[in-house]
Amino acid sequence: MTRAFYVTTPIYYISGNPHIGHVYTTVVADVLARTARTAGPTFFLTGTDEHGQKVANAAAEAGKSPQQWCDELVPRWQSLFQTYHVAYDDFIRTTQPRHERVVQRVFERLRENGDVYLGKYEGWYCVPDETFWLESKLVDGKCPTCGREVQWLSEDDWFFRLSAYRDRLIEHFRAHPQWVRTRSVYNEMMAILEEGLDDLSISRTNFDWGIPVPDGSGVIYVWFDALLNYISGIGWEQDDAKFQTFWPASVQLVGKEIARFHTIIWPAILWALGLEAPELVFAHGWITVEGQKVGKSLGNAVDPFALAQRFGADSLRYFLLREAPFGSDFSYSEEKIAQRHNSDLGNDLGNLAHRTLSMLQRYREGVVPAAPASLPLLAQFDELPERVRIAILDLRFRDALEAVWEMVTALNRAVEERKPWALEKECRAEELDALLYELCEGLRRLAILLHPVCPERMEELWRRLGAGGEIGAPWTQSLVAGAGIAPSTRTSLGEPLFPRIELAPK
Ligand code: MSP
Repeated sequence: MTRAFYVTTPIYYISGNPHIGHVYTTVVADVLARTARTAGPTFFLTGTDEHGQKVANAAAEAGKSPQQWCDELVPRWQSLFQTYHVAYDDFIRTTQPRHERVVQRVFERLRENGDVYLGKYEGWYCVPDETFWLESKLVDGKCPTCGREVQWLSEDDWFFRLSAYRDRLIEHFRAHPQWVRTRSVYNEMMAILEEGLDDLSISRTNFDWGIPVPDGSGVIYVWFDALLNYISGIGWEQDDAKFQTFWPASVQLVGKEIARFHTIIWPAILWALGLEAPELVFAHGWITVEGQKVGKSLGNAVDPFALAQRFGADSLRYFLLREAPFGSDFSYSEEKIAQRHNSDLGNDLGNLAHRTLSMLQRYREGVVPAAPASLPLLAQFDELPERVRIAILDLRFRDALEAVWEMVTALNRAVEERKPWALEKECRAEELDALLYELCEGLRRLAILLHPVCPERMEELWRRLGAGGEIGAPWTQSLVAGAGIAPSTRTSLGEPLFPRIELAPK
């Protein structure tokens, strides 16, 4: 039996409106989950990180209570993910009782086993990053990660004995050189480990928007709280069957700026609980605009609702996966999105669909002809589904899409070389039938292969093809094992799937 697949995104701070960077990680998780679901049990968790000083400050500025603020903003995130056709299995909010219970229980468990102890914290704190910093780490007196002001803290806090896990972390990194990707993040984390680890303060007393420390003063540090969503969201100590099925996570996606929390602090907390570390933490790069990371605090956020309306959510999804190898930074611009949309989706795929379906209308009244004895054009792509699946689950999205485009290109080339219009004119009906059948069946396979990336548009293509059954059904069966498009199926032409986008000249 295939092992169950569990994929997570970071849970997002709701201190402001979502931007394209948040869509990015969530769409990637969705593509993984949709792909994994065609092979076996899959769980995809995302959600919101609602505690902490940053969210409390944002609520106060808006003149609202933090809870009210969160309750009002969460639907915006959910509708954003819906706009981008994200099919998560659960959406966790850290203010939900199911999560708060887990955080308090973990805190107590670790206090009992000595991994959590009372001490004094003196040092700096970056509110936008919700991060503690030693004096020696500051750059020009500012946060080394985001460059913003830090505040001085002097508190009696609870501490997590992170330093005790350093050797085990180093061993784990050495024994599993692939468990943190990309390689440069792995190296960066190794350097931090080699330098040494301090214990981590995990409570705060100078504000109160958080989960209360059980039988103590203050609230639990927002990162300690937030990381635990990955296990509270699959029922740790609440739903054993589910938890056992899905933990350890198969892939935890994070932006590279929060790799340290996920590859150093997170496994240590898990080990303190007697649980396994995730199989893979993939720390990806940033979407940038003019060299700067997109993000609300840096003032260059791009409204993702407007983008979806302008370019189509599926075109954005395609762009995000195709533009750069997953892991590296890439710069975003409307011109680049329009170009990908027009060339790959419009001219290549959309045109293949449109010309096939319109020839079918013109020459065969929209009905799929009889299947020929063999499918020579498609036979060379019998291995493609497996290649694509392997590339996607290995997070090589660009490779996967390039491989699919080999098939798109081959089918377009076949139309140009074999000239169906000439076959029609010369009354070579059998050859024309064979070609049209192969093109229809090719489109059906493409719809399945691209469904994880462009779910809405591929479902539309599926309908136009009149293809029966489930588009997301197990790949190997529906693609290769002969369940091809049925002759006599009635197709419909419809408007272009990816209509051309013209950008106004600047
Ligand atoms: N709440 C924490 C995460 C807690 S997880 C236990 C947090 N939230 S966040 O709202 O700041 O979202 C961070 C995540 O959003 C990044 O790790 C990344 O996945 C995504 N991105 C935010 N800006 C991004 C870009 N400019 N580019 C790519 N991804 C970006 O940190």
